[in-house]
Amino acid sequence: MSDHKTAIVTGAARGIGLATTHLFLAEGLSVAMVDRDAEELQRAADGLERVLPLPYDVSIPEQVDAIMAETIQHFGRIDCLVNNAGVADFGPIEDTSFARWRTVMETNLDGVFLCSQAAIPHLKKTRGAIVNIASISGLRASTLRVAYGTSKAAVIHLTQQQAAELGEYGIRANCVAPGPVRTKLAMAVHTPEIIDAYHDAIPLNRYGAEDEIAHVIAFLCSDKASYVTGQLISADGGFESTGIGLPAVRAKGDFA
Ligand SMILES: NC(=O)c1ccc[n+]([C@@H]2O[C@H](COP(=O)([O-])OP(=O)(O)OC[C@H]3O[C@@H](n4cnc5c(N)ncnc54)[C@H](O)[C@@H]3O)[C@@H](O)[C@H]2O)c1
Repeated sequence: MSDHKTAIVTGAARGIGLATTHLFLAEGLSVAMVDRDAEELQRAADGLERVLPLPYDVSIPEQVDAIMAETIQHFGRIDCLVNNAGVADFGPIEDTSFARWRTVMETNLDGVFLCSQAAIPHLKKTRGAIVNIASISGLRASTLRVAYGTSKAAVIHLTQQQAAELGEYGIRANCVAPGPVRTKLAMAVHTPEIIDAYHDAIPLNRYGAEDEIAHVIAFLCSDKASYVTGQLISADGGFESTGIGLPAVRAKGDFA
């Protein structure tokens, strides 16, 4: 077994997955970078040491088996699995065809199930950790998120199932629910009105940065979290905690 702990990060070609990869490398881990966008993955991996780019799709069982086999062949061990690959497809319930619903579920839910299941024999050997990436949308319902929000709520529960069953092997499973993160993609599609509305609704008055999510993921993977399993951490600037935190109420106070 290699001396370097090894993490598998899915959706590692950009955004939160790439930030997590950079942080793991800085902490001395090796990283199997998984992403179905082969070109972007290669660009992201270029020049990095101790990485193995794996251009696979987490929703296809045979490709998931290849992810595990090639990671073991290359690094000899798997200590952490970060199920980060995700797709966002927002639309009204009535316009969400079954094909769109399945596209979201395939990656966001099936992918987490498949990768985690395939990693279990290897995580047993290292008494390793799983971190699943959900979303504020899995905790709070909103318009246009029938598939995305439901998939993320399922990921939160799947994490608890994993923790309940895998604890006896020393495998921990935890979940991170980011609020809006300032990824290139989010910034490209969020209008100034949306950016202002988030500013007002989030107690910290800003979007999160990719590395702020990565630090929570890395903590949950690390030995510092050795007695933490089955938990959900919202990394969202306080967004989820503000049940009656309407901006107008926060600013002026009321008697509710
Ligand atoms: N950005 C946000 O504001 C935000 C907020 C809450 C939750 N999240 C969640 O965080 C995770 C990462 O988000 P991001 O903003 O960095 O996303 P992103 O779109 O920038 O990156 C996601 C990566 O996953 C890859 N991917 C998608 N489906 C895949 C599949 N089936 N197999 C392999 N790779 C696949 C994509 O090619 C892409 O490179 C997602 O699960 C997302 O739902 C993001």
